[in-house]
Amino acid sequence: MPPRPDGRRDAGRARGSRERRRTVSDGRARLWLLESAKLHVYSPSMSPPTSKSIIISGGTSGIGRAAALGFAKVGWRVAICGRRQDRLDAVKAEGGLRIAEQCDVADPSQVARFFAGCVAGFGHIDVVFNNAGAFAPAALVGDLEVEVWRQMIDTNLNGAFYVAREAFRAMRAQQPQGGRIINNGSISAHVPRPQAVSYTASKHAITGLTKAISLDGRPFHIACGQIDIGNTATEMTASMSAGSLQADGQKRAEPTFDVAHVVDALLYMANLPLEANVQFMTVMATNMPYVGRG
Ligand SMILES: NC(=O)c1ccc[n+]([C@@H]2O[C@H](COP(=O)([O-])OP(=O)(O)OC[C@H]3O[C@@H](n4cnc5c(N)ncnc54)[C@H](OP(=O)(O)O)[C@@H]3O)[C@@H](O)[C@H]2O)c1
Repeated sequence: MPPRPDGRRDAGRARGSRERRRTVSDGRARLWLLESAKLHVYSPSMSPPTSKSIIISGGTSGIGRAAALGFAKVGWRVAICGRRQDRLDAVKAEGGLRIAEQCDVADPSQVARFFAGCVAGFGHIDVVFNNAGAFAPAALVGDLEVEVWRQMIDTNLNGAFYVAREAFRAMRAQQPQGGRIINNGSISAHVPRPQAVSYTASKHAITGLTKAISLDGRPFHIACGQIDIGNTATEMTASMSAGSLQADGQKRAEPTFDVAHVVDALLYMANLPLEANVQFMTVMATNMPYVGRG
C-alpha cells in the first residue's frame, strides 16, 4: 500500500485487518483506498482527512459561508471574517469553525489584526480565499456618485489587496514556506453588466491582482489563482430571478446555479499540491447570457 496522502499513520495497517475493514466504511478514507488502488477517481466531497487551514474573507453569507461550511465538513481548519457579528457567530457554530472574527476588509489595520490572530491560531496558513465583495445599485457612468465608486473600490479592490498582502506575508514567512491564494473574481472580470462600472472595474482589477501575485509568489512557493463565478444563488444574486438589466436595455430573469458547485471547484483548487495551480476557473450558470453576446 502507498503512504496516506495526508502523511498520517495508517491506523488500519497498524492494528490489523479488522480495523482496516472499519476504515473502509469511512467515506473519506474510501477515496484514499481508491487512490491506493490506482483508480483515478476524484470527488471533492470525499477528500481525504486533512488538517489544512484556510482563511476566508466574507464568510458570513453566500459563497464565503458555503465554502466555510464545505471545507470544515471535510476536515479543514477554517477561519472567516465579516462585519456582521450575528452571522459570524451563526456560521461558526454551524460549521464548528475555529475562528470567526469581525473585520472590515476595507480597513488595512483590521485585516492585519485578523491575520495575526489566524497565524497565531493556526500556526501554518495553507489557503486564503479572498472572497469578500459587494455589488452597487445600477447607475450609468455619468450618474455614479463618487462615494459609491470609492466604497466599491475600497471593498472589492483595496480590501482584496489588503487580504492578499497579509496572506503573502504570512505564507512567505512560515515554514514550510508557501501557500495558495484564491481570488474571487467574477464574470464581470471579463465583461460588464450594464450600469455597473464600479463593480466591473473592481473585478477587472482582480485579474491584475491575481497575475501580479502569481508572478511575485514564484520564489516563495506561493500559488495564486482566480475563480470567476457567474450567477450562483446567493444574497447578491437574489434579485436576478426577478430580472436583470441586459445589454439591449431589457430586463430578463437569469438562471442561477447551486453554490455547492462553487464549493466543489474551490476544493479542487485548494487541494492541489503547490507545484500545480488553477490560474483561472470560470464556473457559471450554463444558460446565463455571457457566451455568444447575450
Ligand atoms: N454570487 C455570484 O454569482 C457571484 C458572481 C461573481 C462574483 N461573485 C463574488 O463572490 C463574492 C461573494 O459574493 P456572494 O455572492 O457570496 O455575496 P454575499 O452573499 O452578499 O456575500 C458577501 C460577503 O462579503 C462580505 N463583505 C462584504 N463587504 C465586506 C467588508 N467590507 N468587509 C468584510 N466582509 C465584507 C459579507 O460579509 P458582511 O456583510 O458580514 O461584512 C459577506 O460575507 C464577492 O466578491 C462577489 O463579487 C459572486
